[in-house]
Amino acid sequence: MKKIWYTYEDIHRAIKILADKINHAQQPFDAMIAIGGGGFIPARILRTYLNIPIYTVTLSYYDVNDHPTDSPQKIQWTEGLASQLKNKRLLVVDEVDDSRVTLEYCIRELQKDGFHELGVAVLHEKRKPKKGFLPENLPYYSGIQVEDWWINYPWDALDIQAHNQQAATAHPTEKP
Ligand code: G4P
Ligand code: MG
Repeated sequence: MKKIWYTYEDIHRAIKILADKINHAQQPFDAMIAIGGGGFIPARILRTYLNIPIYTVTLSYYDVNDHPTDSPQKIQWTEGLASQLKNKRLLVVDEVDDSRVTLEYCIRELQKDGFHELGVAVLHEKRKPKKGFLPENLPYYSGIQVEDWWINYPWDALDIQAHNQQAATAHPTEKP
């Protein structure tokens, strides 16, 4: 699979685009629910533009050997948040809409828990057939659409300088 590298600056720029789309929507959101780990840093940057609090859940779709599991697993969920978030408009934030399986799972589980005013915001939306489905009327925002390549995120880098070097040289003309 082809690979692409994004720098923190690329990410910040894409989140500004995402925030503009969200801010142009009719109804503002009251809070974010960041899906960890990938959604944490995007949610924090998004807060700079949206000024709403961040709550978190953590799901994992890949196991310790980096193989996809049968279904996303809840590492940490909304226990204890019900009273604070009841009847609030919640924006679920993640880094990438890939297969959409994690997003479908997260939205369905939040609905089961009684959260009904939901939207989704992702930094990167991969152009590809999706295995997961979101409710048709669910507000959905993506910063940028990208090809179905493997994205290397800066927060996964062990050597950030080498990462930035790759970002500068790998596919500079193809980067959205
Ligand atoms: P989706 O609903 O958002 O489409 O996600 P999907 O279930 O397809 O898979 C989600 C997992 O796959 C996430 O990891 C996500 O980070 C990872 N993933 C998918 N495409 C890419 C990519 O191009 N680059 C990278 N780096 N990761 C990708 P997770 O198990 O939830 O772990 P975490 O990293 O969020 O903690
Ligand atoms: Mg993730």
